Amino acid sequence: MSKLLFALLPLAFACQDPPAPAEPASAAPAPAAEIHAVHEDGTHGEMVAGHSFANAEQWAKLFDDPGRDAWQKPVELVAALELAPGMTVADIGAGTGYLEGHLAAAVGAEGRVIAIDSEPAMVEYMKARVQREGTPQVEVRQSEAGDSSLAEAEADLILMVNTYHHITERPAYFARLGAALRPGGQLVVVDYHPGDAPHGPPAVMRVDPSVVQAELEGAGWGLRKSLPLLPEQFVQVYSLGPVKVEPVIDAPAPVAPAVPVE
Ligand SMILES: C[S@@+](CC[C@H](N)C(=O)[O-])C[C@H]1O[C@@H](n2cnc3c(N)ncnc32)[C@H](O)[C@@H]1O
Repeated sequence: MSKLLFALLPLAFACQDPPAPAEPASAAPAPAAEIHAVHEDGTHGEMVAGHSFANAEQWAKLFDDPGRDAWQKPVELVAALELAPGMTVADIGAGTGYLEGHLAAAVGAEGRVIAIDSEPAMVEYMKARVQREGTPQVEVRQSEAGDSSLAEAEADLILMVNTYHHITERPAYFARLGAALRPGGQLVVVDYHPGDAPHGPPAVMRVDPSVVQAELEGAGWGLRKSLPLLPEQFVQVYSLGPVKVEPVIDAPAPVAPAVPVE
C-alpha cells in the first residue's frame, strides 16, 4: 500500500494532493498519503466535508499552476460555453477561482459570475482574488454541500468543473438544481475520464461519463452534447427535460501515459 501511495504522489492534481507544505507539519494540511488513504477506501465525502480543501493557499499551487492551461484549456473551454455579454454564469465548486477571470471576460462588465464553493477557505481565497484581479462582476458565494445556494431562475448557465465527483446525494442535488436555471439554460459538467491519467483523482473517485449521464437523466436533465475538447476530461452539456434528438457523444479521450515515478 505504501508503495502505491508514493507512486501516486507525483500524479497529483485537482482533488488529489496539495503540494508538499512548506510549513511545519502541525500547521500543514493533511499529508498527501493520508489524503490518498481516504480516497482509496472510498470515503472521499468525508474528505470534502472535513478539511482537505481548507488550505486554499496550498491548493492554489495546483489549481493555478500555469502548466494546467495546457490540458485544461480554459480559453477553449469557456469559448465552448457560448456565453454572451450580460449573461449570468454560476460556477459550482469554483475552488481558487481558476476559471473566474475567463468567465468574467466572457459575460463582460454587465454580466455576472457567481463563484460558489462549500469550503469557507476557498471562498475567502476567491474574494481576495476578485479584489486583486478587479473583476467586480464575480460574486463569491459560500454554499452548503447539499445545496447549490442558487435562487430560482438565477443563472443562464451552470458550470461544474472537477467537482461532480465530490457532490454527495447527487439525485436530490441535481433534481433541485434545475430550478436555478432560466428558460433555455444549460448545465455543463466537466470531469475526468475513468482511468489513471496524469492529472485528476485516483480511479476509484472518478465517475464514468455514462454514469453522470444516467444520474442526471434520473434527475430530470437531458444530455444535449458532449464536446471532444479536452484530452483528459469529458465535457457534457445538459438542459432540462428529456432529449428530443440523439445527443452527439464523443469517444473517450485517449489516456496519456502516467508520469514515471522516480
Ligand atoms: C477539485 S476542486 C475544483 C475547483 C475548480 N473547479 C477547478 O477546477 O479549479 C473541487 C472544489 O469543489 C468544492 N466542493 C466540493 N463539494 C462541493 C459542494 N457540494 N458544493 C460546492 N462546492 C463543493 C471544493 O471545496 C473544491 O474547492
